Formats: sequence, structure tokens, C-alpha cells
Amino acid sequence: MTFADIQGFAIDLDGVIADTAKFHGQAWRQVADKVGTEWTEELADSLRGVSRMDSLELILKAGGHENDYTQEEKEKLAEEKNDNYLELVKTLTPNDILPGMKKFLDEAKAKGYHLALASASKNGPTILKYLQLGDYFEGRVDPAKLKKGKPDPEIYLQAAEIMNLDPVHVAGIEDAQSGVESINRAGEISIGIGKNLKDADVKFNDTSELTLDALAKKLG
Ligand code: BG6
Ligand code: MG
Repeated sequence: MTFADIQGFAIDLDGVIADTAKFHGQAWRQVADKVGTEWTEELADSLRGVSRMDSLELILKAGGHENDYTQEEKEKLAEEKNDNYLELVKTLTPNDILPGMKKFLDEAKAKGYHLALASASKNGPTILKYLQLGDYFEGRVDPAKLKKGKPDPEIYLQAAEIMNLDPVHVAGIEDAQSGVESINRAGEISIGIGKNLKDADVKFNDTSELTLDALAKKLG
């Protein structure tokens, strides 16, 4: 694959466009404390990109509590987490767009690349509204309609469909291992932002390094 293959970008939201991954972490930590699961960096990392209910299951399992709650109680815990999260993100403004990302989106748009949002978050539209990026994407995968979340390829395949592109012409941008795996399994080019993304085709330390030029240099 080369840079010239790319015709569109499927972009994750939390941890790529805005630093909301930390707010998801903070909100989950309150749930972990409540159920008695020790909060570790490893657990926090494993939750990145993972859907709300799957994240709750991972937290319960990490503390050996997977059989301690009914479905109804689990739904209540997930709702509490979401209320915590929505409280934390209330203060987001366009200043919270991660460094270089607005520029990257503007440049990609100006050069005619397709753009789709591939976030597992049901709060995606709310966050985009706070960041004033509501109109930037030609479409967004609705995570409520997915059969399987990341690392399953479904979300990135749907993003390609929204852009009307063959997956080989799509590059996905992710900060999470689960997301990179999803992109790879969809047969797209994976761009990893941050640490511990050994399977990404191309890696950047942070979003400020991500430009079309830098990508062209790395991909050839
Ligand atoms: C992903 C986040 O983007 O969305 C996860 O990385 C989060 O941490 C998932 O659990 C689901 O988000 P939400 O807002 O629907 O609970
Ligand atoms: Mg993410």
C-alpha cells in the first residue's frame, strides 16, 4: 500500500480528535471503585475504543465480579458511567481539539479526501457539537447499529461504505489497539497515534505530527 492508495479517512474520535479518552477513563474509574475492581493503567488501556457495555464487562471481569450483577444492575452502572462522562465533557470547546487535528481535517477536506467518523461512542454527535466539528464529516457510523464493536472490523467496513470507497482506499486513524486491529481486519491502512500500537501500518507519537506530507513520507 502507498499514500496514493488513500482516497478517504475513517477517523476515531476519542483520543484522536479530542482528548476525551481521559474523561472516559475518569468516569469508568468511579464505576471500578464502586464495584471494587482495582484501577490499573493496564485496565484503563484495555478499555480504549471498546463499547460501553463491553468496557463494563472488562471492569467487572478484572475484579472477578463478572457474575455479581444482574443485567439490569449492569445497565444502571453503565448509565451512571455515562452520566459521569457527560458531566466531565460539558466544558469542551474547540480549544480541546487535539493539536494539529483541525488543520489535518481542513487540509484533507481541501484536497478532496472523503472523511467519515468511526467512533464507538454513542456520544459522538454531542462531542462534535462541543468541538464545533459537526459539519466536518460526510457521514458517521452509528455505533448503536453495530453487531460487534472494535476490534471487530464492522465499524471500519461501514465507514468505507459511507464514503462509497473500497476498503483498500481507506486509511483509519486510531489511538487504541482495539481500533488498529479493527482497521487491519477491515483491510484498510492503519494509522496509529500514541503508544503501544505495534500493529499499526504507520505510527505517529501524537496528533501534532500527523499531516498529509508526513503520512506520504512514511507510507511512500
Ligand atoms: C470509544 C471510547 O470511542 O467509545 C471508549 O474509546 C468508550 O472508551 C466507547 O467506551 C463508547 O463510548 P460511549 O460514549 O458510547 O459510552
Ligand atoms: Mg479512541
